[in-house]
Amino acid sequence: MSKDTLTIVDNRTGKSYEVPITHGTIKAIDLRKIKVDAEDFGLMSYDPAFTNTASCQSKVSFIDGDKGILRYRGYPIEELAERSTYLETAYLVLFGELPSKKQLEQWTFNITHHTMLHENVKKFIDGFHHDAHPMGMLVSTVAALSTFYPDAKNITDKNCRLLQTYRLIGKMPTLAAFAYRHSVGTPYAYPDNDLSYTGNFLNMLFKMTEIRYKPDPVLERALDVLFILHADHEQNCSANAMRSVGSSHVDPYSAIAAATAALYGPLHGGANEAVLRMLKQIGDIKNVPSFVKSVKEGHGRLMGFGHRVYKNYDPRAKIIKTLADQVFEVTGRNPLLDIALELEKIALSDDYFISRKLYPNVDFYSGLIYQAMGFPVDMFPVLFAIPRTSGWLAQWAEMLEDPEQKIARPRQVYLGHDVRGYVPLVERKA
Ligand SMILES: CC(C)(COP(=O)(O)OP(=O)(O)OC[C@H]1O[C@@H](n2cnc3c(N)ncnc32)[C@H](O)[C@@H]1OP(=O)(O)O)[C@@H](O)C(=O)NCCC(=O)NCCS
Repeated sequence: MSKDTLTIVDNRTGKSYEVPITHGTIKAIDLRKIKVDAEDFGLMSYDPAFTNTASCQSKVSFIDGDKGILRYRGYPIEELAERSTYLETAYLVLFGELPSKKQLEQWTFNITHHTMLHENVKKFIDGFHHDAHPMGMLVSTVAALSTFYPDAKNITDKNCRLLQTYRLIGKMPTLAAFAYRHSVGTPYAYPDNDLSYTGNFLNMLFKMTEIRYKPDPVLERALDVLFILHADHEQNCSANAMRSVGSSHVDPYSAIAAATAALYGPLHGGANEAVLRMLKQIGDIKNVPSFVKSVKEGHGRLMGFGHRVYKNYDPRAKIIKTLADQVFEVTGRNPLLDIALELEKIALSDDYFISRKLYPNVDFYSGLIYQAMGFPVDMFPVLFAIPRTSGWLAQWAEMLEDPEQKIARPRQVYLGHDVRGYVPLVERKA
């Protein structure tokens, strides 16, 4: 008869153990009872980089990497990208259901009315060097916000958490835009409450001497769709940082700073920049076959291809590819697009890529769009951090409300020296 348990035989002792299987997992702590003798600490599982360890139970995002599926709270990413807005999706990601008309109005009002920064924040930004990376400025200034809102420490109070959620989602675009204006040397542009979330962001970035900035509706919508696509992606490096740092019960500004720092790394938020560099290096369509050949011979990787989880076309990449056509109609065609299309065509028909299940990921086309919209490459990870804030906050709240969660504290396998006595300096060998 089948049973939802796993029987483990310890060949060191001949003893047998039965551990329950729940949702396709065993609890690592159930292994602890497997001991050689009473002195033994007990068996642990060893899993560097958590490649086969679920660190939490979650209801936020669902990914089926083999089928190329991504859903937020059960809703397919394709439907949200076509029919929703970023703020509505953020509400869904955070609260689990699509908002009613009244809830959406209230939510939008609250976010819109928390976009201003304390004037002192500008002084921090002013202190950065002129060529400071905007992501470095974002990490630092979002951490600094915790000093402006000491009430945020009250993380067990739901209403207090909600207030910080409004503030963080409202202020991240302002911090990002101010960092950008600092790096290009233009005066800060203040939020305009009559504009949409992304329309206002474009206003704070690109407003010059005009009285009122009018965002191009196609670009405004394209950015909104890109924000929807980046809202959450289950337990990736930065979500894990948010949960892990947040598990110490620090305030959410400090935890978001940690998550943003994780996103700063080139293996996480920086791949689309690498795609652009690669396309520039290829330079011309006629060089694509020789470039693909060199990748197959082990000289570098095809950036924007492959994914730890997706072993199929990344569903977000498909949407972005369509979006690119709409954006290029307004901005003019990015000349690197032809190289990208040729690269994709050749790679998708080549056995090297097919056998390894290497398909375009979210970063393959997004950089081309961002560049066409006028963003410098340094801003690319910032454009990821803004929408991911809703996902980070959803993961954080879920972690805080989960009775099974505690402060994150992994174990280690110690392979260093056994105890040894201190050697005085004069007796040490050179
Ligand atoms: C995303 C990525 C880090 C996932 O890595 P991973 O799951 O650890 O996969 P592996 O590094 O084990 O690669 C498996 C095989 O595919 C090859 N491979 C993976 N990505 C490749 C790429 N982009 N170009 C060429 N070969 C690639 C590896 O060389 C390896 O081949 P082998 O089995 O002959 O040694 C990896 O695909 C990559 O570096 N992609 C390019 C960077 C990128 O676009 N990152 C953004 C991710 S959203």
